Amino acid sequence: MIYQGKAFRVLPVEDGIAELQFNLEGESVNKFSHSAIEDLDAALEAIRADETVKGLILTSGKDVFIVGADINEFTQTFKQDDETLLAGVMAVNKVFSGFEDLDIPTVAAVNGIALGGGFEICLCADYRVLSTAAKVGLPEVKLGIYPGWGGTVRLPRLIGADNAVEWIASGKEYRPDAALKAGAVDAVVAPEKLKDSAVALVRRCLDGELDYQARKQEKKGKLKLPPIESMMVFETSSAVVKQQAGPHMLAPIAAVKTIQKHAFMDRDKALEVEAKGFLKLAKSSVCNALVGLFLNDQFLKKKAKESASIAAETNKAAVLGAGIMGGGIAYQSALKGTPILMKDINQEGLDLGLSEATKLLSKRVSRGRMDADKMGSVLNKIVPTLSYGDFEGVDVVVEAVVENPKVKKAVLADVENQVSENAVLTSNTSTISINELARDLKRPEQFCGMHFFNPVHAMPLVEVIRGEKTSDATVATVVEYARKMGKTPVVVNDCPGFMVNRVLFPYFGGFSALVRDGADFQQVDKVMERFGWPMGPAYLMDVVGIDTGIHAEGVMSEGYPDRMKRDFKTAIDVMFENQRFGQKNGAGFYQYEQDKKGKPKKVVDEAVYDLLSEVCAERKSFDDEEIIARMMIPLCMETVRTLEDGIVDSVAEADMALIMGIGFPLFRGGALKYIDSLGVAEFVELADKYAHISPLYAPTDKLREMAREGKTFYG
Ligand SMILES: NC(=O)c1ccc[n+]([C@@H]2O[C@H](COP(=O)([O-])OP(=O)(O)OC[C@H]3O[C@@H](n4cnc5c(N)ncnc54)[C@H](O)[C@@H]3O)[C@@H](O)[C@H]2O)c1
Repeated sequence: MIYQGKAFRVLPVEDGIAELQFNLEGESVNKFSHSAIEDLDAALEAIRADETVKGLILTSGKDVFIVGADINEFTQTFKQDDETLLAGVMAVNKVFSGFEDLDIPTVAAVNGIALGGGFEICLCADYRVLSTAAKVGLPEVKLGIYPGWGGTVRLPRLIGADNAVEWIASGKEYRPDAALKAGAVDAVVAPEKLKDSAVALVRRCLDGELDYQARKQEKKGKLKLPPIESMMVFETSSAVVKQQAGPHMLAPIAAVKTIQKHAFMDRDKALEVEAKGFLKLAKSSVCNALVGLFLNDQFLKKKAKESASIAAETNKAAVLGAGIMGGGIAYQSALKGTPILMKDINQEGLDLGLSEATKLLSKRVSRGRMDADKMGSVLNKIVPTLSYGDFEGVDVVVEAVVENPKVKKAVLADVENQVSENAVLTSNTSTISINELARDLKRPEQFCGMHFFNPVHAMPLVEVIRGEKTSDATVATVVEYARKMGKTPVVVNDCPGFMVNRVLFPYFGGFSALVRDGADFQQVDKVMERFGWPMGPAYLMDVVGIDTGIHAEGVMSEGYPDRMKRDFKTAIDVMFENQRFGQKNGAGFYQYEQDKKGKPKKVVDEAVYDLLSEVCAERKSFDDEEIIARMMIPLCMETVRTLEDGIVDSVAEADMALIMGIGFPLFRGGALKYIDSLGVAEFVELADKYAHISPLYAPTDKLREMAREGKTFYG
């Protein structure tokens, strides 16, 4: 053994060739924490000191190669002052360049995923061999930063500026064949041949067959691109990247600019330029929000894992009602491998549910994401039925019949008699109390809400609603089934609207008051879309369905009369009265025409303004800031309330539910993160300014206390 640390060890392989192996103690994956970097530095020092080492392979002792930097350390690290942060980044660069500058041939033998910093260290090696099971990429932009340990410097020098821009700005992971084609790696081999191939490459260098010194120089010099051509590459890619990234994601375009800036510098100067640009991104609120979301996601996964031990396996499911939701639920369950009975009361319902699933699967096949055999086997997992015949072996039932408490109660009572004593029943209701639905059940402890969002295949969230009597094991079983379906479950307690709709309707309340006071709904839509929402509130209401919205609003108004009771006729009421139900019947706030692909396309209908004149003040223009404040405060304040009322257990779960359930702007990290980014005291002050509009804006006592004490949600 040449070196043994807590992350790295160096051991001789044969004939002066040594192995630098990363195998992080106490962790299931390799990641670059501060201490791992220090250990790498020490390992390299030992290699430099050992004259018997003539060549080196870099390997991993785990299934993954290196997942990247340790994101758990980002929040604290990025809080450091500029000077300290810059020094820290440059210190890592020194270690990485030290690896590149070893006077011996080096080959990275990449067995599994090598992402971010994990791929940047590979770029420091003279050659890279990939196992067919590996994947490589620089996904940093997904966290609002760009590669900061030499990725923007070495990759363009290796694969050309245009390819490197594509890799870095997209943040995509690449399969071995694509990486080989781009020139990012030198060979792809079967997993069992990986180490031997890497050793053989080192040997060819030592035999003088391969010029590894030239390889090192290539990455240390300037970009090989004539200035005119280079200008064209950067100008064209800037335009494309800007368009793809949108106005809020600054990292991809910053990466292009950085590559351009250091294109004609040598490595060490270029690394400095990269680090300075990195600093700005690391300090941005977008990075803070995106890193926060990553950590929230980890937290959710950990929580689900902890409860998995008391969950029962779902090997067979059933859905009642083959409508929009039932069909979607059946598709998703079958797609992810759980067979599902789909029961309806009429054949047309079943036909519709099956044809929806077939359509979605055909799309996958036509896009090359699935073959015809697999499509057949997925479809076979959906068993349509008009009777309860086969319900005995079902583990979980999802009720998705019409939104009517009487019908739902009757259906749930029926199905409870058809399934085994251990089966778990759930309801996909959007508005009916889970406690109420549980009231007449024989086994209320085996019942909870399982609230999917429309369209089921596309929306990642499932709200798992715990009723008063729901057992922990039932919740755990449903959480696991949702995860098996590829969804992210968030567990909440029962209340009107549960978590997501309870928070969404105050946002619509903000919208109704704005329009009443003379705001143009189109302006509100545009401002909120620029703010980052996938669609503005009027458009969203059209997509949800005006009738559905009116119904849900009624439930909220009854549930929270102190702040959600409506005391004026709203623009949404006017749409409803005029039977403009939204996209579903071709007209709502907007008119809908079919585009060439048969998808609804929204167009402006001036007639709507005449209809609205009945309930709206004279139209006037509002500042963007006022629109944003009047829309966002009610939503954020209600999120605070769900947390205070114990509807949701944690800050992380509240924000994740909004991001995944209603498309809250990703780069803002959720409602509570958004309040933190404004400052709790500033948010309270802003809310007070608008409190005259509606009690929806009034800060809670606890929030005022937080403001006074200078506390934040994320600590
Ligand atoms: N559509 C949405 O956006 C959405 C989103 C989340 C939750 N939900 C909830 O999902 C549920 C279903 O909504 P949907 O939009 O799919 O409705 P839908 O009208 O499209 O489908 C309901 C289906 O249930 C069937 N049905 C009625 N009574 C039945 C019975 N006794 N047994 C079996 N099947 C029966 C009907 O034939 C119909 O096919 C509702 O509770 C709704 O609130 C809907």
